[in-house]
Amino acid sequence: MIKRPSKRSVLITLLIVFVAIQMKTTDKTPINIIPASDFLTMEEAPQDVAKLIQSVCYDCHSNQTQYPWYSHVAPVSWWLEGHIKNGKSKVNFSIWDTYTPAQQVRLKNESAELIEKKWMPILTYKITHADARLTEAQRLMLIDWLKE
Ligand code: HEC
Repeated sequence: MIKRPSKRSVLITLLIVFVAIQMKTTDKTPINIIPASDFLTMEEAPQDVAKLIQSVCYDCHSNQTQYPWYSHVAPVSWWLEGHIKNGKSKVNFSIWDTYTPAQQVRLKNESAELIEKKWMPILTYKITHADARLTEAQRLMLIDWLKE
């Protein structure tokens, strides 16, 4: 008969697995920021708009991600890294000068639309970042400016 593993050996195994997966870290090396290439600088965003976009969009759509402590703990780190990579591949506000004028217009319109539909910032981000749950007034302010 096969002996069922004891609770203790299951816990020890889980602990070993948890420690082992920490070896696979994600790359958080800071990326050089060129202020002149930044979306908010290039588009001359007013200060209140700039502050808000920085706090609710820049973690996933710029080279200025602010990493919370749990972003260093696998497997959460892998999951967040996926969001950031995916987000930046769609739009990276730190390299705004690399988009053509047509792309810039499209990205601004899309941003306005996604904010209006409450799809951006994404739901899981709002759960952990209370200040990213935009009020109606904040949403309107961003949409008005993006559509200008
Ligand atoms: C927690 C990470 C996160 C935050 C915060 C976030 N986004 Fe995103 N964003 C993503 C991801 C991931 C995608 C890709 C979604 C997909 O492909 O389904 C995306 C896609 C987009 C796109 C679509 C681009 C395209 O061409 O398809 C736009 C525009 C965008 N985000 C704007 C914003 C704006 C504006 C904010 C702030 C109000 C914001 N995002 C906040 C993760 C984020």
